[in-house]
Amino acid sequence: MSQRDAFYVTTPIYYVNDVPHIGHAYTTLACDVIARFMRLDGRRVHFLTGTDEHGQKVEKAAREAGMEPKAFTDQVSERFRELLRVMDFSPDDFIRTTEERHVRAVQTLWTRMVEGGWIYLGKYAGWYSVRDEAYYAESELVDGRAPTGAPVEWVEEPSYFFRLSAFQERLLRFYESHPDFVGPATRFNEVVSFVRQGLQDLSISRTTFRWGIPVPGDPAHVIYVWVDALTNYISALGYPDVDGELFRTFWPADVHVIGKDILRFHAVYWPAFLMAAGLEPPRRVFAHGWWTNEGQKISKSLGNVIDPHALVARYGLDQTRYYLLREVPFGQDGDFRHESMVRRINHELANDYGNLVQRVLAMIRRYCEGRVPDPGELAPDDEALLARAHNCLAAMRAHMEAQALHRALDEVFGLIGEANRYVDAMAPWALRRSDPARAATVLWTLAETIRHVATLTLPFMPQSSGRILDLLAVPAAARTFRALGAEGQPLRPGTPLPPPSPVFPRYVEEDAG
Ligand code: MSP
Repeated sequence: MSQRDAFYVTTPIYYVNDVPHIGHAYTTLACDVIARFMRLDGRRVHFLTGTDEHGQKVEKAAREAGMEPKAFTDQVSERFRELLRVMDFSPDDFIRTTEERHVRAVQTLWTRMVEGGWIYLGKYAGWYSVRDEAYYAESELVDGRAPTGAPVEWVEEPSYFFRLSAFQERLLRFYESHPDFVGPATRFNEVVSFVRQGLQDLSISRTTFRWGIPVPGDPAHVIYVWVDALTNYISALGYPDVDGELFRTFWPADVHVIGKDILRFHAVYWPAFLMAAGLEPPRRVFAHGWWTNEGQKISKSLGNVIDPHALVARYGLDQTRYYLLREVPFGQDGDFRHESMVRRINHELANDYGNLVQRVLAMIRRYCEGRVPDPGELAPDDEALLARAHNCLAAMRAHMEAQALHRALDEVFGLIGEANRYVDAMAPWALRRSDPARAATVLWTLAETIRHVATLTLPFMPQSSGRILDLLAVPAAARTFRALGAEGQPLRPGTPLPPPSPVFPRYVEEDAG
């Protein structure tokens, strides 16, 4: 993947037909971790999220709530903003498709596609699923429903079409010359074989409802919600002002992170629309898997929807962030399980990470008068642990470039495991009497390793990691990846440290008394 200073990462924009659930929190969490990592790594980041507010599905939800669509979308969109605060997400911008800047961008994109000869007026007769906001061919239906299980309805109306069929060859050539375009790789194969089978022109306007962006010059039609929604990724960069600073700096996007259910829209339709308008496709689309709840599909009718606010209240914010990204290889499906959440909180966070920090800082407090000890003369064991700490960033960086977030976490937790083995083997509590200078060296090595660990876990667990860096008295300006490694900014011997306090509490079952 080519390197540039700027880095643009996006979440899908969320339908405001319902309040946020774990699926939404998950996608934005992954993007937040990527964005924070890249910022700490010195990249200039633009991280975008927002809400998808037009279309039949949202119009229907507003009607059911007895509200005007605009008032309804204002209300639900606010719930998505609230989630950003609750989960400590750090977007640079939040776009709503009802905003003026977006409407202008969509109408301009439409006009460009018309000018290129890629849009024609026809008549659509076929199946439509409001829940999926997608058209389906008769041959795709399974027992009278969409392949996703969503109900479909027969639609017959005048419609504008996009000449998607004309893009088959161009798309295939593009995929071939961009072997990293879709991740994980298995998903890329699905996309390529879908396009190889041949593409039908796509209906891109509707006349039977009003809640959408009018087609320029033909206001009886509203623009298909997916043409509208996908455009958010460029309207937030100031499109149509392609010479503007934002657009020039950040387009094409480095990665659109999405769920696997909306891959076709992002990896087939979106690059085709962009090509039709003379714009570059994004660099990469990464599709993550879906969560189930204790083995069951999550659905409103089953009443097992997971509310992210409840997770944070019950398990803690960083615990939730950690669990969601550690439990499942990013890209695969996952099953949310309370038991496994508790195991990870207690073993990996409280014991492995938390106790390491607590033990080391408590010893520094007792043996070194609460000041960063003097490294003195390093022995090969110390150098080996420090080398591992110094090399951790490079290993994580490679995984983060490929959105292998779980692998990046494995690296840093491998380092934690190494530090725990080292502390047991060196036994500084015994050295303290036999060889106090050696005890100081060991504790310095551990403190320096913990500084690396905490800086590297900042993107994943910003608050807890920040507290550990507080306990090490690391100044704000040194909380970046530049401060790591052999050439970084090691802890200064003699620096006074605040009294240690535990950072990762154990989870105690509510009914355990
Ligand atoms: N509005 C469209 C996206 C337009 S992007 C130009 C949309 N919105 S959505 O609100 O329905 O879904 C947003 C994301 O949530 C999708 O990426 C979807 O995969 C994800 N999830 C919804 N349920 C999920 C799970 N149970 N598990 C994980 N992610 C899931 O689609």
